[in-house]
Amino acid sequence: MTHPFRTAAVIGAGTIGLSWTALFAAHGLNVHVSDPRPDLPEAITEALAAFAPHLAAQGLDTDGLADRVHVAADVTEAVRHADIVQENGPERVEFKKELFARLVREAPGHALLLSSSSAIPATAFTTELEDAGRILIGHPFNPPHLLPLVEVVPGERTTEEAVRAAVDFYTAVGRTPVVERQEIPGFVGNRLQNALSRQAVHLVQQGVVTPEDLDTVVTHSLGVRWATVGPFLGAHLGGGPGGYRHITEHIGSTMQQMPLGEPSQDPEDRERVIQAVERAYASTPYADLAEARDHRQLAVLSALEDIRRTEHTKEI
Ligand SMILES: NC(=O)c1ccc[n+]([C@@H]2O[C@H](COP(=O)([O-])OP(=O)(O)OC[C@H]3O[C@@H](n4cnc5c(N)ncnc54)[C@H](O)[C@@H]3O)[C@@H](O)[C@H]2O)c1
Repeated sequence: MTHPFRTAAVIGAGTIGLSWTALFAAHGLNVHVSDPRPDLPEAITEALAAFAPHLAAQGLDTDGLADRVHVAADVTEAVRHADIVQENGPERVEFKKELFARLVREAPGHALLLSSSSAIPATAFTTELEDAGRILIGHPFNPPHLLPLVEVVPGERTTEEAVRAAVDFYTAVGRTPVVERQEIPGFVGNRLQNALSRQAVHLVQQGVVTPEDLDTVVTHSLGVRWATVGPFLGAHLGGGPGGYRHITEHIGSTMQQMPLGEPSQDPEDRERVIQAVERAYASTPYADLAEARDHRQLAVLSALEDIRRTEHTKEI
């Protein structure tokens, strides 16, 4: 490794923490993991075994992966020699306030302190801290050892040096960091996801489509397109040679005025959607569905990586 990040602490080893642990170790970092769950050693062993093939498929060396992962007795021990700390505990502001106050005291002074929080901005849990300059959000998409995006969101008092270090760190572990300059609720990725999910629930509640058919609409159209070009470049191309200007002036206003409606929050309506989704998917074990998803995501990522390598496609 050429970057200065050699030792990581992972605090909270649930869905997200275990995935980060495997990714960091596969990039050669020593990883110290703290979580009060009684089955922590077994959970780490299982996760490393399950994720190793995914990491190998990304060209990473998984030999000796487990040797670089250490179970810490507590947070103090986990962060003692850390260059970076990635926090993945419960999504509660009081928990993050207490934990980050402790991290500031107990982690080395140079350590970068990152939170995976999906919706709590760094400013919400750092206002009372003196040393808030090195604390910021590094929000991944699940599972972070596969999906490349990390939203880097500085708090009001995060230094530019810490933002640059976070970008360097996530780049060094093969992720794609994007810096976002306002602590907007849900950040960017989850706001986009939320807009689509609300419309999906509304369409199912209105009886327009079933959950399976709605999923097919997405995976066979927008999902494929969005893995290759984002909404703006997609629209620019949709406008033909006239580009984004043409599509905006041509059909943009009709699209903007389309009444979209909102899903009902009535408990009975919500329950009907839950039951429809369970009818569609709950008879298959969770682990099988998750493995199928990871397998497919990996196939898409590998294919795109091959194209970039072999055809030297211009980065767009
Ligand atoms: N699940 C997702 O899709 C997702 C995606 C991106 C970000 N996140 C964020 O990541 C964080 C973790 O989410 P998750 O889904 O992995 O949750 P999770 O419930 O799977 O894991 C949380 C873990 O924190 C542990 N924990 C509780 N108290 C602790 C303490 N004092 N010290 C250390 N560990 C402690 C729990 O034992 C548990 O294993 C949240 O902030 C969440 O918003 C989640």
